[in-house]
Amino acid sequence: MKGLALILSTSLQFFVLQLSRAADTISAAQSITSTNTLVSSGQSFELGIFSSGNSEAWYLGIWYKNFPNIVVWVANRENPVADSQGSLKLSKNGSLVLLDQMNNTIWSSTSSQVAEDPVAQLLENGNLVVREKATTDSESYIWESFNFPSDTLLPEMKLGWNFRTGLNRFLTSWKNASDPSPGEYTYGMDNVLLPQLVIAKGSKKMFRTGPWNGLWFTGTPGLAATYRSVVKPIFVYNTNELYYSYESFNNSTITRLKLSESGSIQRLVVTQGSTEWAVMYTLQNDECNRYGQCGANGICRISKSPICECLPGFVPKSPEEWGVLNWTSGCIRETPLSCQKGEGFLKVQNVKLPDQLNFWSTIALVTTDVKQSA
Ligand SMILES: *[C@@H]1O[C@H](CO)[C@@H](O)[C@H](O)[C@H]1NC(C)=O
Ligand SMILES: *[C@@H]1O[C@H](CO)[C@@H](O)[C@H](O)[C@H]1NC(C)=O
Ligand SMILES: *[C@@H]1O[C@H](CO)[C@@H](O)[C@H](O)[C@H]1NC(C)=O
Ligand SMILES: *[C@@H]1O[C@H](CO)[C@@H](O)[C@H](O)[C@H]1NC(C)=O
Ligand SMILES: *[C@@H]1O[C@H](CO)[C@@H](O)[C@H](O)[C@H]1NC(C)=O
Ligand SMILES: *[C@@H]1O[C@H](CO)[C@@H](O)[C@H](O)[C@H]1NC(C)=O
Repeated sequence: MKGLALILSTSLQFFVLQLSRAADTISAAQSITSTNTLVSSGQSFELGIFSSGNSEAWYLGIWYKNFPNIVVWVANRENPVADSQGSLKLSKNGSLVLLDQMNNTIWSSTSSQVAEDPVAQLLENGNLVVREKATTDSESYIWESFNFPSDTLLPEMKLGWNFRTGLNRFLTSWKNASDPSPGEYTYGMDNVLLPQLVIAKGSKKMFRTGPWNGLWFTGTPGLAATYRSVVKPIFVYNTNELYYSYESFNNSTITRLKLSESGSIQRLVVTQGSTEWAVMYTLQNDECNRYGQCGANGICRISKSPICECLPGFVPKSPEEWGVLNWTSGCIRETPLSCQKGEGFLKVQNVKLPDQLNFWSTIALVTTDVKQSA
């Protein structure tokens, strides 16, 4: 009898565990602690409170159910809970609040909207949303984690701008592999006339993709193959929005974009059932992709050694620096420009378009000149 009771209680426990595990939603009376989690309806993502290699720092985060070590979103990046006693609650007004043991607020979601009968739900695409219980329409979410990315861009997330609300969504790297606090690098949409994606270290540009050509970002030919086989890229630019997003071509391929702690962007993929993620490509993985590598009027060719040359008609500004492979000051004209002597344009193929900022300041300058002479 004792044995039977044990089996019964074990299976009951198992059942209860399964029940509590299966939930993807909490309502205002419920909470998430370090002993329970939310799991999305199709078992892809899990939300909970975790520690990352350091038992004195606990975070609210979202990870792949099948890859618990791959955390795709962290709420309280800058403000960890000091022990495992944190809890996530949904306030009656719809704000999510992470509390510590003493009920101090560690993190909370901010929204201009107030809910009447809120629920928080972890969606199958990895988005944690707060909405009215009665409405599932994505346009009426009160808050969503996809608007506050960490270091990972999942399918259906948007990288870029909502002009109506002024929201700019960009990735920020972790400090290091076990510390999710914001690191040095960001990856986001440069809001210029011909927009492009830019990796920056603080305010310094490190890499740019080149502008979108309708199919892919022009300076990144490696992306074209990926776009044919793995993901369908989405680029939207209108008066309301400017963003990059993507969808997986095939549901049996799981894919994500990650900004690493060292500032490179990687496209990672795993096929359903497999345990090994593969790196499909890394942006900024060669010397020529480093922003401004050869300086002004220089051209970078990865197949050449040294990789930097001056454009025809130009010479190194500082031959000494150039001689020791420091190309930062770039090249200057060998002889002054003389349009009268029939000098014209030279076609340079297979290069990124000039960076838009310079491009437009040049046009602005021309306009100014015209005005001055008028
Ligand atoms: C919602 O409630 C929480 C605490 O319950 C409070 O901190 C927050 O300011 C409230 N938000 C709004 C928009 O009223
Ligand atoms: C924290 O809040 C909960 C619920 O309101 C309450 O039961 C508990 O006693 C509080 N804990 C402390 C340390 O104030
Ligand atoms: C990560 O950074 C934290 C401090 O921010 C440091 O204590 C820890 O040792 C670092 N871990 C690694 C693996 O570098
Ligand atoms: C999706 O991928 C699986 C496994 O790689 C493959 O068997 C299947 O044919 C693919 N489906 C489509 C529509 O491409
Ligand atoms: C992939 O899954 C989504 C959502 O489950 C579904 O709408 C879509 O049709 C699926 N696509 C393919 C190619 O199977
Ligand atoms: C390269 O040249 C620039 C410009 O003169 C200088 O500021 C920089 O320190 C040099 N870099 C190295 C590694 O010597």
